[in-house]
Amino acid sequence: MKAIILDSDNDYRLTDIDEPAPGPGEVAIKVAWAGIQWGDTMVRDGHFPVPRPFVPGFEASGHITAVGAGVDPARVGEPVAALTTSGAFAETVLAPAVLTLPAGTVPLRTAAGFGWGAPTAYDLVHTVTRVRPGDSVLIHAAAGGVGTLAAQFARLAGAARVVGVVGSAAKAAYAAGFGLDRAVLREEFPAGLDGERFDVILDPVGGRTRQENLRLLAPHGRLAAYGNLAGYEPVLADTNELLMQGASLLTYNSNLLSRTHPERLAESARRALESVAQGEVRVDITAQYEPAELGRAVQQLREGATFGKSVLRMS
Ligand SMILES: NC(=O)c1ccc[n+]([C@@H]2O[C@H](COP(=O)([O-])OP(=O)(O)OC[C@H]3O[C@@H](n4cnc5c(N)ncnc54)[C@H](OP(=O)(O)O)[C@@H]3O)[C@@H](O)[C@H]2O)c1
Repeated sequence: MKAIILDSDNDYRLTDIDEPAPGPGEVAIKVAWAGIQWGDTMVRDGHFPVPRPFVPGFEASGHITAVGAGVDPARVGEPVAALTTSGAFAETVLAPAVLTLPAGTVPLRTAAGFGWGAPTAYDLVHTVTRVRPGDSVLIHAAAGGVGTLAAQFARLAGAARVVGVVGSAAKAAYAAGFGLDRAVLREEFPAGLDGERFDVILDPVGGRTRQENLRLLAPHGRLAAYGNLAGYEPVLADTNELLMQGASLLTYNSNLLSRTHPERLAESARRALESVAQGEVRVDITAQYEPAELGRAVQQLREGATFGKSVLRMS
């Protein structure tokens, strides 16, 4: 089958490899579309210790073509959205059956864009920070894949005010379409917030931004750390200071959750997909690429040049 491999020279190459067969608890999927996400930039830039060459790609949509032991054979032929640990940039990918959701009425292009970002956004709002009606929410990288979804889930949960932080005026205008009351430019953070405090802050940035975020929490506020866009320097928090404010520093790691409690992640993914199917939440795909363009697509994401979600057409 055709697959895109990432080699030790950091180049993506379309090549022929053997088609994989599903093991116990797995399904094989003929990939229609694959989602592109920040994890692809991390893999390419060497932040995950994956031996090269290998086939990257974390999110796929398509039809199930075969099932492994313990998986209902009636699933063959089902259109699905799947969360994978690698391999989605190929004609066929293997995925855990539990993290392979029936796409139902959701178009396959959207189902690939759904990826890890939608369950992550759902969990950040519902199971991690537990946004309540009336809460104010600050969302960093608000014009991105997770950010645009998190803003919509926060609104659905009843947030009274949603503010985003974005990298440019064009992104501020774009992010406004996802229910933001206001967008602040990254270069104006935090001064541009004019001292506003937030009940919930979603922070994929880290570093100095995370330190600032801790100071922006309202009493009983919850900060969810879920990424390190700005780098990996440790961020130390004074728990006594947090205690005086009744504030909480929380973290979220969907990759770990998929290995320790896959059913929990699958349940959040099902709920998120239901919201997409109902039209309550929109996965906004603004760029689609062909396999030969994957390197350019990942670089665009790395440079902050993307809006919403990008996908790759595999077949
Ligand atoms: N923990 C989890 O389970 C989990 C799951 C999924 C994703 N994530 C994390 O969620 C984040 C977003 O992922 P995504 O795939 O949806 O990507 P994305 O938000 O579509 O793209 C990343 C965006 O981050 C902003 N950015 C880039 N470098 C930055 C920096 N140094 N400081 C501040 N902002 C920066 C840019 O937006 P602007 O130009 O608007 O600033 C860029 O467009 C990533 O950190 C990813 O690792 C975590």
